[in-house]
Parts: sequence; C-alpha cells; structure tokens
Amino acid sequence: MKTKIKRIPYGKQWIGKEELRAMAAVLKSDFLTQGPKVQELETRLAKTVRAKYAVAVANGTAALHLAAIAIGLKPGDEVITTPISFIATSNAALYVGAKPVFVDIDPETQCLDPKLIEAKITPKTKAVFVTDFAGHPADLRAIYRIAQKHHLIVVEDACHALGATYNKHKVGACTHSDLAVFSFHPVKHITTGEGGAITTNNRVLYERLTELRTHGVTRDPQKLLNREAGPWYYEMQNLGFNYRMTDIQAALGIEQLKKLGRFVARRRKIAARYRKAFHSLSFFKIPNEQFQNTHVYHIYPIRLQGKLVSKRKEIFQELQKRGLGVQVHYIPIPSQPYYAKLGYSIKDCPKAEAYYRSAITIPIFPKMTDREIGSVIKIVASVVRSYSK
Ligand SMILES: Cc1ncc(COP(=O)(O)O)c(C=O)c1O
Repeated sequence: MKTKIKRIPYGKQWIGKEELRAMAAVLKSDFLTQGPKVQELETRLAKTVRAKYAVAVANGTAALHLAAIAIGLKPGDEVITTPISFIATSNAALYVGAKPVFVDIDPETQCLDPKLIEAKITPKTKAVFVTDFAGHPADLRAIYRIAQKHHLIVVEDACHALGATYNKHKVGACTHSDLAVFSFHPVKHITTGEGGAITTNNRVLYERLTELRTHGVTRDPQKLLNREAGPWYYEMQNLGFNYRMTDIQAALGIEQLKKLGRFVARRRKIAARYRKAFHSLSFFKIPNEQFQNTHVYHIYPIRLQGKLVSKRKEIFQELQKRGLGVQVHYIPIPSQPYYAKLGYSIKDCPKAEAYYRSAITIPIFPKMTDREIGSVIKIVASVVRSYSK
C-alpha cells in the first residue's frame, strides 16, 4: 500500500517559546532597530564561529553584496565562483560590475574543485567566491593556498554551513578565507526570518562593512574629514545602503544561536538514519562526508544513478504526490536565462550539469519527527525502486 502523509517540506524553521519571549521583550523596549540586540547577536556569532568580528545584515544576499564592495571589486574584475550555488553567490559579482567566471565542481562534494581554479585565473581575477554546498565545507585550504599565490581574496559563502567544521576549523572562523557570509533564512541552521551576517578577522574590512550596511556613514571622530562641526555631525564617505537587521530579528537570532548545537546534532542524526537506510541502495548516491570535516546537512540532495537520471522528473513528481516537499538544489547558475544572455553556458561545467540532472533534495530539518524520518525513508526508497524496474 502507498504511504500518503501530511506534506513534509524540505526544510523548515523551529521557533520555541524562548524566541517568542525575546522578541516580545524587544517590541516592548525602546529600540526596534539600531538598539543593543544586533550587537549582542554579532558578539555571540563571532564567538560561536571563532572569528574576531561579525556584522549582521538584512539577508545573505546583502551580506554577499557588501562583501563584494568591501573587498574592492570593480567593473571589469573577474571572480572565480561555483555553478552549483544559489544565484546570490555570483550575482554579488554582477552587482558591482565584476564578471563571474564559473569553475566546475568536485563531483564528490559538489563544491568548487580547487584543481580547476588555476586554469581560469587571468590578470583580471581578483577574488574567489566559494560555497560550502549543502553544509559540507569546500576544500578551503587548497583554495586559499591558490588564492594567496595569486593575490586573490577569498569570500566563503557559508550560508549552508553554520556549525560546520573544516579540518577542525569552524566555518566562519576565516582560517582559510578573508570573509565568510551567512544567511538566516528560515530553512537555514538558524533563522531571523530574513537576515544574514559576515564574519572576518580583518579590522579594515569589518569597519568598511559596518559603514556600508548603514549608508556608508561614519561618526567615528578619528575618521571624520571635518572634525569641528559638532556632536550631531556624521559623514557619508562611501555609497552604502540600508542593509540593517532589526533588533526584533536579532533577538530571534540570539535565541536560535543558543540552540545551534542541538539543531546541528539533530540534522546529523537524521542524516545518519538516512545513511543507514540508503547506503546499500544502488539507485541513488547520498551526500558524502569527508572524514576530516563536519557536514551540517543544510540540505540532503540524493543523486540518481544510471538510467534513473532520465526519469528524474517522473520520480520528482511521484515524490511530490506522495507528500514530500522535494526540491532541486540547484539549477546551475550559468544556465539561468539572465546568465545565458550574458554568454554563459553550463556546457563549460560538465560535472555541474551531470550533478544537476541527477539531483533531488529530500527533506531534512531539526523539527522532523522520527515518524516523519521513517516516512521519508520508506517513500524515497520505494518510489525510486519502482522506477528502476
Ligand atoms: C548559498 C547561498 N548563498 C546566498 C544565499 C542568499 O541568502 P538570503 O536568502 O538570506 O539572501 C542563500 C540563500 O538561500 C544561499 O543558499
């Protein structure tokens, strides 16, 4: 008999009474925004990921945009990046007039393959934007080494990877990057509704980011060009934005951050159950965890094998019909119509294309019940098996 269940999404937030209490307290306070909670979240986040500085912003896309400006990307500069990420990663280069240059992925992790980077470096290359896809860190040490050799800046898009470690280094500590970017969208490891942050150990970048987040304005007496004006005085010295996070969001984020360890542990437990159930099946591959890293399973993409790849659409539709909120992460960025118009083609990244054709993201989020996990296992195994005959 077919198991039909209440729809299980691929990802979802988990908000408790602690968050509700903290947000209500802010609502009753003097500051809904530009108050003390944003700074508290920043201090806690920096401590959690072991970076010197954190800057909270309106969302992960804003974080990437500010990162691109702060590192000084200019029109005509080239940025090495990955085709398998959310569009926001390479869009950050486009926002500042720079040119994304897509480098193919390592088919084991679906992260940017360091072995392919050097062939794409030109005198115009200024930075590498690398994504820790699905919650598994990219090969950050190898990428950083190449970047240093060629004087490139590394921006780590860690939107999938809060809580992950690479070679015992916390993602976000910027041990092998100049800036790391996070998103607090509801499907991520912690949420602030919309929200994001940038971490760094570089004081100059930190100060630039805090100014750019709020219109490029400074009140720092040491930085003012006119020091005589008076106590009301501020200066806009760069073109910035209102990319601020509110204190209501920050209060939510602080309570979520306190639960990060539990959230990550639960994701890893669900992944362990999936591994146990699926590892011996030959119809699809499951995410691979390289032994020296901690995968935090932001998403759980399975990869169909052999002739099942040509049936991906039917399998996807059947999984939907059976109540699973499946997704595909991601349509390769160069094949998006906007990028195609700019002259990009996924044909230049054949491993990314092959991955895309085979991928289906199945549900994983901390609030999933054991029963829901069991249902996902049963449905995925039986649907995929039925198409393999
Ligand atoms: C890899 C990656 N980068 C950037 C972003 C953008 O973050 P946000 O939605 O907070 O703007 C996301 C969000 O989905 C993401 O997954």
